[in-house]
Amino acid sequence: MKRTLDWNKYLEKAAETVSEGIVMLKNDNNALPLDPSDTISVFGRIQLHYYKSGTGSGGMVNVSKVTGIVDGLKDAGVKLNEKLLGIYRKWDEENPFDQGDGWGGEPWNQKEMPLDESIVEEASSVGDTVIVIIGRTAGEEQDARLEEGSYLLTKEELDMLKKVRNHFKKVVVLLNVGGLVDLTQILECSPDSLLYVWQGGMTGGTGTAAVLTGKVSPSGKLPDTIAEKISDYPSDKFFGDKKKAVYSEDIFVGYRWFETFAKDRVLYPFGFGLSYTKFDIALTYAKSSDNESVISVNVTNIGSCRGKEVVQVYCEAPQGILGKAKRVLCGFAKTKELAPNESQSLKIIVKHRDIASYDDSEGRSCWILEKGKYTLHIGCNVRDSIGHHDFEIDDDIIIEQCSQALAPVEAFERIKAVETADGLSHIMEKVPLSKVDEAKRRLDKLPEEIAYTGDKGIKLSDVKNGRNTMNEFIAQLSDHDLSCMIRGEGMGSPRVTAGTASAFGGVSDELVKFGVPACCCSDGPSGMRLDCGTKAFSLPNGTLIASTFNRELAEELFTFMGTEMIANKVDCLLGPGMNIHRHPLNGRNFEYFSEDPFLTGQMAAAELKGLHSVGVEGTIKHFCANNQETNRHFLDSVVSERALREIYLRGFEIAVKEGKARTIMTTYGAINGLWTAGNFDLNTIVLRDEWGFDGFTMTDWWANVNNRGEEPKRSYYVPMAKAQNDVYMVCSDSSCVDEDIDSAVKNGELTRGELQRNAGNILGFILGTQAMKRLDGEEDTVEIINRNDGDEASDEPVVFYDLDNELELDLSGVKCQKGKNHSFAVIVKKQGWYNVTVTASSTQSPLAQIPVTIFAMGTASGTLTWNGTDGKPVALSCEIPMFSRFTALRLYFAQNGLDIKSISFKLVREADNMDLAFAEEND
Ligand code: BGC
Repeated sequence: MKRTLDWNKYLEKAAETVSEGIVMLKNDNNALPLDPSDTISVFGRIQLHYYKSGTGSGGMVNVSKVTGIVDGLKDAGVKLNEKLLGIYRKWDEENPFDQGDGWGGEPWNQKEMPLDESIVEEASSVGDTVIVIIGRTAGEEQDARLEEGSYLLTKEELDMLKKVRNHFKKVVVLLNVGGLVDLTQILECSPDSLLYVWQGGMTGGTGTAAVLTGKVSPSGKLPDTIAEKISDYPSDKFFGDKKKAVYSEDIFVGYRWFETFAKDRVLYPFGFGLSYTKFDIALTYAKSSDNESVISVNVTNIGSCRGKEVVQVYCEAPQGILGKAKRVLCGFAKTKELAPNESQSLKIIVKHRDIASYDDSEGRSCWILEKGKYTLHIGCNVRDSIGHHDFEIDDDIIIEQCSQALAPVEAFERIKAVETADGLSHIMEKVPLSKVDEAKRRLDKLPEEIAYTGDKGIKLSDVKNGRNTMNEFIAQLSDHDLSCMIRGEGMGSPRVTAGTASAFGGVSDELVKFGVPACCCSDGPSGMRLDCGTKAFSLPNGTLIASTFNRELAEELFTFMGTEMIANKVDCLLGPGMNIHRHPLNGRNFEYFSEDPFLTGQMAAAELKGLHSVGVEGTIKHFCANNQETNRHFLDSVVSERALREIYLRGFEIAVKEGKARTIMTTYGAINGLWTAGNFDLNTIVLRDEWGFDGFTMTDWWANVNNRGEEPKRSYYVPMAKAQNDVYMVCSDSSCVDEDIDSAVKNGELTRGELQRNAGNILGFILGTQAMKRLDGEEDTVEIINRNDGDEASDEPVVFYDLDNELELDLSGVKCQKGKNHSFAVIVKKQGWYNVTVTASSTQSPLAQIPVTIFAMGTASGTLTWNGTDGKPVALSCEIPMFSRFTALRLYFAQNGLDIKSISFKLVREADNMDLAFAEEND
């Protein structure tokens, strides 16, 4: 099939998403939309470095151009105070952006320009309105912190806010952040307008400008509750421990806690967001049957400009025996853009499974609707209701009987809601503990072995075409073939698109001979990470997308994304990320959607539908409870089965059942003592037996695995395979013999039947991929039109060089113009730290600064800066880590004027294994 990807339309759709995801919290004094006759002063150095996303795998998309807020405003014709902009530019040149070094090395904030009162005073004489941009990034391996420059504002930022407030009539504050920051300090400075503009990808500034100028009325709603203080969040007491995260808040995450027990601690409630116009919402119809309730509303724009509104439905269930949160989101719908006086009726179907509770008490293990009165509150946020619909359930209804799974093995107490004479209160109760014999459970479900036939000449395409069964195909695979199949290769495997996260499927010559294609996985949730420097589209982050509350928009955006994946021969995106915002300081919240599992599941399902519509896949991650970055490889989440089922698994369940997810990534950490990568209850009982998942699962990259009671370790394939987590991501050579698997099969610890079952999951998935079509010469082709950045994906293969202790490459002839990259890849025989020497010359002045940044696997690993060299070659060196057998390297030239000659690599220290490498990196 021939497909067309119109880059302009892609940009437009992404900008539309940004506009719809911006959440306006405050707008007084007619500060917004901007007055077209005003000249706007923009403060905050991040105006020159718009954060398109956070850091780490979810943010490493190479883009040709990022349209920041200032560019967006200029493109929209807004008059800016150019003199002030010039002052910032000059200061920024003298105080360059600190991108940090290494994985997760970028600081969470950038030094702010100290402000002289006279600059502010002068700016205020040019116009009435000031925009202040506060920026924060965050990402993998580190959480945000309750410190200045992270969750709290720095002294310079506060000083800036105070000074502009003193001098300007209208103060607009924009938060270009991935997660929440402290608002109390900002509100004390009394801005007129305050907006979370989040991180909007490469076209974030365009979407932001559309809102600021009034072209689009804001319609984003908060996907998280904003409380006064971090300590108000129910998980705060239990967050940040390096070994164990005890989830004592249980189901009371975010608004479930605040609306039930601490309403007065909330600054802005969940689901809240202002518009430039006003809406009237009228409940027109409501009816409940056994399985669902149908709500109809009529929404009328009663203001004076066009806009969209989100109608939200929250359930208040009877407290029953279990105790409940007072509000649970169970339905939402967004209007189209309504003109003043225009109305639209919306129908919202609330499935009763979405308002059921999970009873994890001994012997129960079921989804239940406890008897009593149910109220569905209808409104435009969790608090402001315009009406409600009540219905009564006379007797308890067990909606679904499950079996106990993933329950805690150590005693702890959790919060429980109880009704007292004085109203609702909370107590601590003991958490029900696991009674499951996990080993027996696995043995009871051992798959039957398919007798080995050897090569019968059956190719995978014969299964696709119905000539043979999958079992007949699998019967031909030797134990070794099967052991290769469960190990993905990467990062940067030459079997697939260069610079991507992994190859799986056809990872050995034998498997390729059987007609199994190598399929390609690439990060991440908001655009493809192509470490060789290939440019890709950078999309808005997950939190922004959730704030749109617009499923159709997310689906459309990801249809573009999917088409771009086909153009780059990527079969699985490593996203959407869908962990719950349990705590505002989690470093990866930007990748994830919300504190609410229903919203999370719905948005993930929408993105998946978009990807599926063009025949590619999204890998939902991280399954599950990946809610803290600090010590994430070793963190044990101690959590009740109820909280898992209702909060931390729920989004995934929706993505599997409604979004038809077919690939899942487990986490780095453990749930109740067992690392998720080898967790049978998680990967088999819940995911497959209960939810009917029929795709394949993978580990996170170099994840730890254990058997119950053991210390976890990397590349521990046997417990992973037994748990039916199908593919270990990643190893450096999937085709080699693995003695552990070999002996486990020989001694019966792991059965051939289990390996065949896992292979069946992987192969069943591969049948529907573009990679399979490619093998048969039937792949879809993509013509990209209107991409005017000159960065079309090139068909030129990336060259791989062997690096055995030392390597020198001649780079003369490489063009070093400003903004260009030179990419290649090395196959590293000995993983470790290498001294890299680049030799180059320049005829520029001795004061010129000409930096070259070396990116290894997409991470800035060192910057070498030349001055003028009188045309003579000068060698500069730095040390960079090369831990992956395949390392994509990229030299980025930030300035003109360099003539590069060569690059050489010399091993300095070998890393015995990944553990050591990781340990040193994280020191
Ligand atoms: C992250 C994953 C990511 C993987 C591959 C890991 O560090 O946790 O989310 O997909 O790397 O880049």
